[in-house]
Amino acid sequence: MNVLVTGGAGYIGSHTVVELINAGHNAIIVDDLSNAKADVVDRIQTITGTRPVFYELDCKNIDGLRSVFSAHKIDAIIHFAAFKAVGESVKKPLQYYRNNLDSTFALLEVMEEFGCKKFIFSSSATVYGPNNPHPYKEEMPAIQSSSPYGWTKVMIERILTDYVTAHPDFCAVLLRYFNPIGAHESGLLGDDPNGIPNNLMPYIGRVAAGQLEKLTIFGGDYPTPDGTCQRDYLHVVDLAVGHLKALEFAKDREGAEAINLGTGNGISVLELVNAFNKANDMDLPYVIGPRRDGDLPAFWADAEKAKNLLGWEATHTVEDMCRSAWQFAKNAGK
Ligand code: UFG
Repeated sequence: MNVLVTGGAGYIGSHTVVELINAGHNAIIVDDLSNAKADVVDRIQTITGTRPVFYELDCKNIDGLRSVFSAHKIDAIIHFAAFKAVGESVKKPLQYYRNNLDSTFALLEVMEEFGCKKFIFSSSATVYGPNNPHPYKEEMPAIQSSSPYGWTKVMIERILTDYVTAHPDFCAVLLRYFNPIGAHESGLLGDDPNGIPNNLMPYIGRVAAGQLEKLTIFGGDYPTPDGTCQRDYLHVVDLAVGHLKALEFAKDREGAEAINLGTGNGISVLELVNAFNKANDMDLPYVIGPRRDGDLPAFWADAEKAKNLLGWEATHTVEDMCRSAWQFAKNAGK
């Protein structure tokens, strides 16, 4: 298939492009490089031996998208491109709603013009909001979030669902990610955000590399076994493979389907720090600080639906995640 990957130079996008190419698909990347580096395309070529087509383009640019769809017969799109910093979204709600929603509208409009009917969407466990019990199951009401970023995911899920109601021959797969960490085994691709990382593993990587002094664990008094928050961390390569499975699933199907991509296991921040130390023979400096606004104490996936519908389950261990994350972080920025 010819697969348009928006945000294909980003963290999850780049790993997904590698899996698409390895499975024999043609990947066409659209990325405005607002939170990614152009040399990711070279790195994908080094890993796979194939250079994906790359357009430096903002996917709100509808005429730009039309040119891409005119140049390639696009069979499906995987839409990663979005602003994704939870805290920043609270301070800049308009930018988040404008960017994340407009890019989706532009894509849907151009897809309709060109008769493309397969849409894999990068959603998030954040759509389960603060009130559902874990493990989260897809049939739970997913109509809540605690940040404008999260609300864009809720809204885009809704927009795609309504679009499918109006266009029953369209297929939208709403992939609800839990916490992807880790990196490609080559050490060439990984999570390398601009500025000081918001997310846990890239922050740990910078501390391990000596670029940041110490990790602050946000809260040690949660109602969890060791007092730190629990999340469902999954290896980014497993997550990338999940997209490939979703594409195969969507090929001969119609309708909208929400599917969790997680391992089904929760581990705490402290357990992850200890796993990182053990996997990489380190002693990461950390302090326990105050809670971070908006963090939920604990959540993880019910991973059965992905297994049943997509034939997908996570295969990498926490040790794999920690080892590969450091393999990448120690060379990032060099
Ligand atoms: N954490 C720290 N110190 C840090 C960074 C994070 O202790 O410096 C802790 C957080 O408090 C949390 C855990 O590490 O308990 C994971 O935090 P992340 O920021 O890595 O991930 P979140 O679970 O907060 O965020 C993820 C996704 C978002 C999504 C959100 C809610 O990154 O896209 O889940 O579902 F919106």
